Parts: sequence; structure tokens; C-alpha cells
Amino acid sequence: MKGFGKRLLTGATALAAGAGISMGGSGMDIERQAFGRTTDGTAVEIYALTNARGLRARIMTYGATVVSLEVPDRTGKTGDIVLGYEALEDYIKNSPYFGSIVGRYGNRIAKAGFELDGKAYKLAANNGENHLHGGIKGFDKVVWKAEPVREENAVAVRFNYLSRDGEEGYPGNLTVSVVYSLSNDNELNISYKATTDKATPVNLTHHSYFNLAGEGGVLGHELMISADAYTPVDPGLIPTGEIRPVTGTPFDFTSPHTIGERIARVEGGYDHNFVLRGGGRALDLAARVVDPKSGRTMEIWTTEPGVQFYSGNFLDGTISGKGGRVYTKHAGFCLETQHFPDSPNKPGFPSTILRPGRVYKSLTVHKFSTK
Ligand code: BGC
Repeated sequence: MKGFGKRLLTGATALAAGAGISMGGSGMDIERQAFGRTTDGTAVEIYALTNARGLRARIMTYGATVVSLEVPDRTGKTGDIVLGYEALEDYIKNSPYFGSIVGRYGNRIAKAGFELDGKAYKLAANNGENHLHGGIKGFDKVVWKAEPVREENAVAVRFNYLSRDGEEGYPGNLTVSVVYSLSNDNELNISYKATTDKATPVNLTHHSYFNLAGEGGVLGHELMISADAYTPVDPGLIPTGEIRPVTGTPFDFTSPHTIGERIARVEGGYDHNFVLRGGGRALDLAARVVDPKSGRTMEIWTTEPGVQFYSGNFLDGTISGKGGRVYTKHAGFCLETQHFPDSPNKPGFPSTILRPGRVYKSLTVHKFSTK
């Protein structure tokens, strides 16, 4: 997309939104443009982050959503590697979380409820009887406040949102910030922070549907996941509580396999949480995906203990996205770094409860290269 209105300073002097200055000679750039209005008239903006090596991410304030992500292939030709729409109104009308930030709780909470400190909480049920991705109006459907951030070797934007006490049934005012940062090392970093005034579950993630070829399906992509176990689910996709070794199953991606190789043996396709070797202790490699055709490679590093690998099973050809492309089954895949689904009801899983006085912090790095 051409013709961005405002160029924003990220260099040596102070940040001034709309000041019309770009970074001196570094090749990095942040531009901001109006991107329409929500149905209640709230203005939405889109930020374009460009690094010095030809990577470009466009992120809008509605849902703090990555609308496009242009990455070079092995010949240097850039392609947009995320699914989505061109216009805001399509995101508002019908989006299966394309590119957005998901919260207050990414993934499912069984029977839309949990008990915390002896009190029962009822959440919005928006996935049958269960709660999915923060409810009816989750963090993907609200307009965030954005500001460019100054970083040494990167261009960055911070998105802020205050989720009020009682929103979608959750306790506590939750102050959330998410920084997207695009570095000259070809990394798209997403760093999350949250604080609360009452104990509440928090599990934030990012929901881009990637297609490293920029077209067609993803069954030929080669995937490695650093996980020796996964969390099996019931028919409603709620974990049973078991942590099951992947050995000898189609969930064993400890060495690379194409997404399609064993997918027929997984009922409905992949939509499972993998238990990462890193265990959420420090920033660690979670997954590597290679598109053999374009050579585009993406590594995902995270401080989270889990990652949901979703192979776009519910895409059914009813959505036409950017450039009129019809998104059929497996047109994209998601790797959503997270704590495990339904943790508020699973005492055996790592806790997702944030308490007043503590800071929720999470970092996920998408590292791009070619092969
Ligand atoms: C979930 C899927 C869900 C999809 C929504 C994914 O994160 O794992 O079960 O259908 O989001 O589009």
C-alpha cells in the first residue's frame, strides 16, 4: 500500500507523532496512516514499520493486528506472508483472529468459567459452552492506543489497552501493553506486559496465520517444534489434563516434517498445544518453519511454556482475503505462543494467574531468514 500520511521520528531526537521525519540514513522507517473507523466511529490507525533490509510490517490499532508482513524470499523478492484483509470493515465483519493480539486469555477455558481464591467466575461463552480467545469482544476487537517507541536497532510501536474490571467476566482492571518491534536482524518481536488490581487469569498471544509462500496452502511447509509432549484434548478441544509424549505420534515434530505428511492421522487437523522444551524459563527456540519453494524460513523463540499449532482447519473457502485470494482449508497456519489452554481449571498446568503487585511479561520473537 502506498501513500502513508505521517512519517514518525524514531532516530536521535524526541518522538513526535506526525512530525514528518524519518530515521537519518538508517533505512528504517515508521509511518502512520488513518485506516478508517469502527462501527461506533472510533478512528483506527495503521503503522508501517520498515527495517533496513526490506522487511515491512503493517499493524493497525484495531486488535493490535498485523495486517501485512512482507518478507523477502531467497531471490530477494518480497511477499506478504500473513493472511488477512485489505480493509478494516472486513476485519470487523468476520475475522478468525487474523493477525491480532488475543486476550485476556488466549485459547479455551472450559465451560466458560473458573474458580479463583474460592470465588466462581463466569466468562462469556463464545465457543459452544466454552470460552475462546477472550470472549465475545476480546482484545482482537478493541481499538488500542498506539505510540511509536525508540529502539536502537529496530523500529517499534507500543499498543496500550485498559481492560476494565468485569470485561467478558474477568476480574480486575488489567493494564496491557504490547510492543511490536522490527529489527535490522530481521526479527519481529512481540513483547507483552500487564498489571492488574485484582487476581485474574492472563494469557496473551498473537494470532497471525502464516503462509511463507505467500500463496497456495501450507501442507508442504516443513515444521519443527521443540516439544517432547503435547496436551491431548477432548472433542471440544479442551485439554484432558494429560501431558502426553509425542514419540511415535503425528505430533512428533522434534525433527522436521511437512505439515501435511501425517495430518490425515489427526482428526480435524492440528489444533493442539505443544509443551515446549524451554518450559517458559527463558527465551528459547519453540519452532522453525521452512517453505522449501521460496526458501523463507521463520523461527519462533518464546518465553512461554507452550505453543498452539493450528493448521487453519476451519478455513473453508468462505473468506476472500487480500488480493481476492480465497482462503481454503490449510491456507495458513498459526503458532500461538502461550500458557496451556484451560489452565485456570487445570491445577497441574503452569499457573496463568496474575496478582496485584506482579507484572505479567512475555516475549515472542519471529526470526526470518532464507534457505
Ligand atoms: C484455535 C482454533 C480456533 C481458531 C479460531 C485457534 O487459535 O486453536 O481452535 O478455531 O483459533 O480461528
